Amino acid sequence: MTDMPAQEPGHAAWSAGGDATFRELMSLFPSGVTVVTAIDRTGVPLGLTCTSMCSVSLSPPMLLTCLHHRSSTLHAMLERGSFAVNLLHSGGQAAAEVFATADLDRFAAVRWQPTPVRGLPWLTTDAHAVAECEVAEAKAAGDHVVVFGHVDGVLTRPGSPLLYGLRSYAAWTGRDGTPTEGTAEWTPASTVSSSSAGAPLAG
Ligand SMILES: Cc1cc2nc3c(=O)[nH]c(=O)nc-3n(C[C@H](O)[C@H](O)[C@H](O)COP(=O)(O)O)c2cc1C
Repeated sequence: MTDMPAQEPGHAAWSAGGDATFRELMSLFPSGVTVVTAIDRTGVPLGLTCTSMCSVSLSPPMLLTCLHHRSSTLHAMLERGSFAVNLLHSGGQAAAEVFATADLDRFAAVRWQPTPVRGLPWLTTDAHAVAECEVAEAKAAGDHVVVFGHVDGVLTRPGSPLLYGLRSYAAWTGRDGTPTEGTAEWTPASTVSSSSAGAPLAG
C-alpha cells in the first residue's frame, strides 16, 4: 500500500447551502477546460469557455454541457441542432480567457477552421481535440440549460489538457502540453466508441 498523508481530523467546516458555498464547493472540483462552439443561422461563429462538460453514455456516445440560459451560443446550438466541444490543451489558457470575456470579437483572437462534417468552429491552435455533436436533448435546470450531444466524430492529436480548479488554471503534468500543428486525426461516428485512429488531417 502507498504511504498517503493522513488528513488532520476536525478541520472541515460545515456551511449551509447558498451561492458562495456552492461556488466554493465547485472550486474544489478541478476539471478540464472546453470552448463550446456553434454557428448561428446567418453563419456567424459563436463560442464560450465551458467547464461543465462530462461523459453521459458510451453507446450511443453522448456528452453533456450546461450553458447559461441567456448564452447566445446556447441559442445557436438549439437553433441549428449541433455544436462542437473543443478540449483546450495546456497552451490554451489565453483562448479560455478570451472565450469567457464579454464584448470581444472572440474568433478574431484565435485560429480556427470548420470541422470536417458539420462545419463547426474548431480552435486549431488551442484545442488538442474537438468533438462534433448533434443536439439530442435539452433540459432547463435553474439558470442553465443542460444540452445532451450525440458525438458524431472527433479530431484528436497528442497534447496535455488545460485544467481549471481552485479558481485558477493549471497544466496536466508529465506530458508535453502544446501539440504540433497539422497532426490532428479525424475519427468518424461509427468508431467514436472504440479506440481506433482515423485518417490524418491538416490542422
Ligand atoms: C473556467 C471557466 C469555466 C466556465 N464554465 C462555464 C460553463 O460551464 N457554463 C457557462 O454557461 N458558462 C461558463 N463560464 C462562463 C462563460 O464562459 C462566460 O460567461 C462567457 O462570457 C459566456 O459567453 P456568452 O454570453 O457568449 O454565452 C465559464 C467561465 C470560465 C472562466
